[in-house]
Formats: sequence, C-alpha cells, structure tokens
Amino acid sequence: MTNIWEQFKSLFAILSNNYASPELNPRKFRMNRPVLVRRHWVNNDPVATAFFNSLSISFPHAEVFMIDSLKPWRDKVNEQMRKEINAFVQQELNHSREHLAFNRGMIDAGYEFKSVEKDIINLVKKLNLRDDLFRLQMTMCMEHLTAIISAEILSDERHLAGAEMHLRKMWLWHATEEIEHKAVAYNVWLEVTKDWSALRRWANRTLFFTLISYRFLSNRLSAQIHLLQQDGYSKISAFFAMMYYGLKKGGLLRRCARPWATFYRVNFHPWSVDDRHLIAAGDSQFTMIVDINDVLGKFIVQRKESPRKDDIAA
Ligand SMILES: [Fe+2]
Ligand SMILES: [Fe+2]
Repeated sequence: MTNIWEQFKSLFAILSNNYASPELNPRKFRMNRPVLVRRHWVNNDPVATAFFNSLSISFPHAEVFMIDSLKPWRDKVNEQMRKEINAFVQQELNHSREHLAFNRGMIDAGYEFKSVEKDIINLVKKLNLRDDLFRLQMTMCMEHLTAIISAEILSDERHLAGAEMHLRKMWLWHATEEIEHKAVAYNVWLEVTKDWSALRRWANRTLFFTLISYRFLSNRLSAQIHLLQQDGYSKISAFFAMMYYGLKKGGLLRRCARPWATFYRVNFHPWSVDDRHLIAAGDSQFTMIVDINDVLGKFIVQRKESPRKDDIAA
C-alpha cells in the first residue's frame, strides 16, 4: 500500500513538474596538495585506484561538455532554473579544475593516458556538432550516471576506505555536489519537452540512456585496463580484475545496478529517489577531514594554475 502511495506521489510530482532541486551551493574547495603520495592511493589497491583514476581522466572534458550543453538554455527557462544552471556551471567548473590537478598528479605518479584522453576529446568534438537538445539529453543521462555513482560512494565508506585523506576529501566533495545538482539538466529537459507526449519523452530519454550507459561502461573499462597494464597486468587479467572489483558482493557497479534501472521507470525523476540526506552526510564527512595541508597549504605549496577559460557568463 505504501509503495502504491509512493508511486502515486511520484507520478503526481512528475506530471506537475513538482520536483524542485535543493538549493545549490557551490562549495569553496581546492586541494592544496594535488599529488598522489602513493601511486595506488586507494588502499594500496591498483584495481580500486584504476576505477577512480579512469573516472577522473574523463571528468575535465565531460564536465566542460555538460556546462556547454546547459548554457544555451539559460535564456529560455524561468528565473529559478536560470539560477540553478548558473550554480551547476560553477560546481562543474570547480570539479573540472580539481580533477585536472588530480590528473596531473597521476602523471607525476608515472601513469600515461594520452590515448584515453584523445578518445574522449574526439568524442566530445563529435557531440558538439549535434544540436542543443541532443546535447542536453546527453547531459541529462550522464548526470544520472554520476549521481548514482556519487550516491554509492557517499553511502558506503568502504569504496574509499584506506584512500589518501586529501584525495578522499576531494571525491566526497565532488560526490556531494553531484547529488545536489542531479536534477538540473533533467528539469531543463522537462521544460523544453513539455509539449511532447509522455511516450515520446520516455522513448527518447531511455534510448539515449541505454546508448550512453553502454559507451560509458565500455570506455571506462578500456581506460581501467590501459592503466592497469602500466601496473603489470595483462589485458585479460586487468579485464577480470575490474569485473570482479565492480561486480563482487558489495562492488560499486553491482550496487549501482538497481538505481541505474530506475531511469527506465515511466514516472522517473532524479528526486523520485530522495537522497538529500546524502548531501548533509557528504558535507559532514567532507568538513570533518582535516588535511594538514589545508592548514599549512598556503605556506607549503602554492598551486600553479593553468589559465582556463571563464565559462560563467557575466
Ligand atoms: Fe562534476
Ligand atoms: Fe554533474
């Protein structure tokens, strides 16, 4: 009975477009020491490290793509959505900046991933040739993937157990903001496609989501194999090690399977799974980690920044 009532409330909310995002709060965060002290910074485990590293390689490019895919809609939506897009842009810009620094740390730790990056850059170039709605739909689907992975990272501390503190802090910060802004692209898409039939909306988003999920999994897996080969794994052993890591009992991918499938529900909305408590949990975990470099950072290391284009329109 409760389940039927929850389904009804969810259907009512989606029909009335009543799923507001929580207030978006771009947090001030900057690693003072963007280095990997240990090459296998997650619990001395090359496989777990490859999982997180492969995500990080894709972030600076994917996040700039997502920023660019939302910006054209700023002048076509209401004031509230415009504010949310601006906050989304600010959050993703910050993530992109920190992951760029993290990726430089990977290079310093001896990893090479030029070919992986080149594939991502080429893919983004191709996607940028598509129209605004196509790119918005891509972003909406990618945001569901990042949101469910983030929710899992925040829900189960085993995924980052034994990780270097300053890096764990960075991933918790990123995951928290991914939950917070998970519905921004979806709400813009709902607004833009409000004249579509329910069937057309469902068919469109689920088709996109299926293709994107496949590309995401296969591209990240090949990046993980590429990284593990530099740790002495053969292609085949790297493949099976990653499969085991993701799909074992309690494995991150296995635990994400059910939240992943919620996207296929007719009445899906990112906030139909209400995990706002994870924002508070992420914030408290994130602020509790005091890295000595946060205190002494300005005296020890001043980060050198590469110039980056300002993506926030005045
Ligand atoms: Fe992000
Ligand atoms: Fe995001």
